[in-house]
Amino acid sequence: MIATCFLIISLIFVFGLVNSQSNINVQKLYTFLFTTNNYNTLIRPSRNQSVPLSVHVIFTLYGISGVDEIEQKLTATGWLDVEWTDELLSWTPSSFGGLRYIYYPQGKVWKPDISLQNGFSKLEELGSKFISVFIDLNGLVNWRPFQVFESKCDIDSTYFPFDRQTCHLDFVAWSLSNIDVHITKGGKGIQLANDLQRHGEWKILSSSALNLVESQETKVRFTIVI
Ligand SMILES: *[C@@H]1O[C@H](CO)[C@@H](O)[C@H](O)[C@H]1NC(C)=O
Repeated sequence: MIATCFLIISLIFVFGLVNSQSNINVQKLYTFLFTTNNYNTLIRPSRNQSVPLSVHVIFTLYGISGVDEIEQKLTATGWLDVEWTDELLSWTPSSFGGLRYIYYPQGKVWKPDISLQNGFSKLEELGSKFISVFIDLNGLVNWRPFQVFESKCDIDSTYFPFDRQTCHLDFVAWSLSNIDVHITKGGKGIQLANDLQRHGEWKILSSSALNLVESQETKVRFTIVI
């Protein structure tokens, strides 16, 4: 009997918790953030627009899929972790059944227009419509676009087959100047994926990341030596 009572109380407790993080609370939070507060994806999310927004970028290299000596091109696959704080997307969890984070489609929040500056193909928005960003209660946004990056790289095959090539991938916010956004590397900046795909001819010898500040813009340079 005592066991049964305990079970019932436990079930009420568990369902109570589950219920508080219910779809109704998620719905309520979405309405609060995006409708009640008139969220606008065109507005850089800083309460004080005189302060540049800090954006941190980490590149995780998944594999080198091609090195083209004729075109002087490196094709690398990987993903960026782009993080910033959206001051207009924070909330108090206790008002929303304890919700501490949500996922939301990338096209429905403000994002820095980060692109590969020394890219080979035409400029395109990173990520895709179906990708969601992670947003926590403090407005910390994490956006993780997975991409095949084609960058220009001076390839010198004088010492083939024992040649060593150094290629850069430079990421900038295309239309935002450093008055608006400061782009810097997050942590070490570049890392190799745990399940890094090996290439038959090319081996990754080292990788590094560097913050660059120019008169109009800030950028992050990821360097891969193969
Ligand atoms: C906005 O930031 C600027 C630069 O830090 C500061 O001078 C100004 O007082 C701030 N404005 C407000 C309304 O906080």
